[in-house]
Amino acid sequence: MNYQSVLERIAEDVAPQVGHGTPAEYIPALASVDPHRFGMAIADVDGNVYGVGDWRQPFSTQSITKVFTLALALAHGGDDLWERVGREPSGNPFNSLVQLEYESGIPRNPFINAGALVVTDRLLTLTGDASRELLEFLRQECGNDRPSFDTEVAESESAAGSRNAALAHFMASYGNIANPVPTLLDHYFWQCSIEMSCADLALAARFLARHGLRADDSRLLSRSEAKQINAVMLTCGTYDAAGEFAYRVGLPGKSGVGGGIVAVVPGRCTLCVWSPGLDEQGNSVAGVAALDRFTTLTGLSVF
Ligand code: DON
Repeated sequence: MNYQSVLERIAEDVAPQVGHGTPAEYIPALASVDPHRFGMAIADVDGNVYGVGDWRQPFSTQSITKVFTLALALAHGGDDLWERVGREPSGNPFNSLVQLEYESGIPRNPFINAGALVVTDRLLTLTGDASRELLEFLRQECGNDRPSFDTEVAESESAAGSRNAALAHFMASYGNIANPVPTLLDHYFWQCSIEMSCADLALAARFLARHGLRADDSRLLSRSEAKQINAVMLTCGTYDAAGEFAYRVGLPGKSGVGGGIVAVVPGRCTLCVWSPGLDEQGNSVAGVAALDRFTTLTGLSVF
């Protein structure tokens, strides 16, 4: 497979859609990003990386980090996490509160905000420093120190964080948050603020294509746990558009409101695409189009 020429073809094909949609507006530090940026990278299971456009430009990873905190929480703490968070699509926006009361403070899945707060809470209990543990993991997997916290974004998240605070306090009222809510929120906001490029995110996610093996060949997750994370990405990774994403792309994927999406072809490669214009569900318009083109051109999907 000539990944480089596939990427160049995709960039040409999606050029008309780059700039469509709107960058996330509820976090002021993200609203000012140029919506005309587009980058895409592929890392194969051997660590070769290919890219096009702004593939080396760091951007705000946001909810893409939810995949990595889930992997770390499972790696450190095993399966009892699943007693505190479900594995079903929510069918609601990523920051919705509405299901939590009906479902007694147990979030539907680890990739909506409520679920991610539970996962970060677990990682905080297990490690004492969830956001630092995450950053160090990302740096090790992509083999450089470029992934970093963005203070402006973290402060901006915190200033606009009433809804996440509400989710965390509400779950605490059901006994589903173990740490003090302000400490948990700090770790969650720092986690969302991490900046990385498409190249580094594709490299860092390779354990999902390598059935749980890290970049240094040590085991992070069992083969079965890697399969489980990929499955939850497919069904829940793009919020209330997960059905449409599976229909169009046919790969496990996780998006973030910074405009990035990570996708996995198990056994073959990982992809990361970035373009800041978002659709109504919070997924990158050009990013979804690019992944759609990738699976159409290559036939590489899980189906
Ligand atoms: O919690 C938030 O609002 C953001 N920091 C992350 C949002 C995002 O990317 C989509 N969330 N699941």
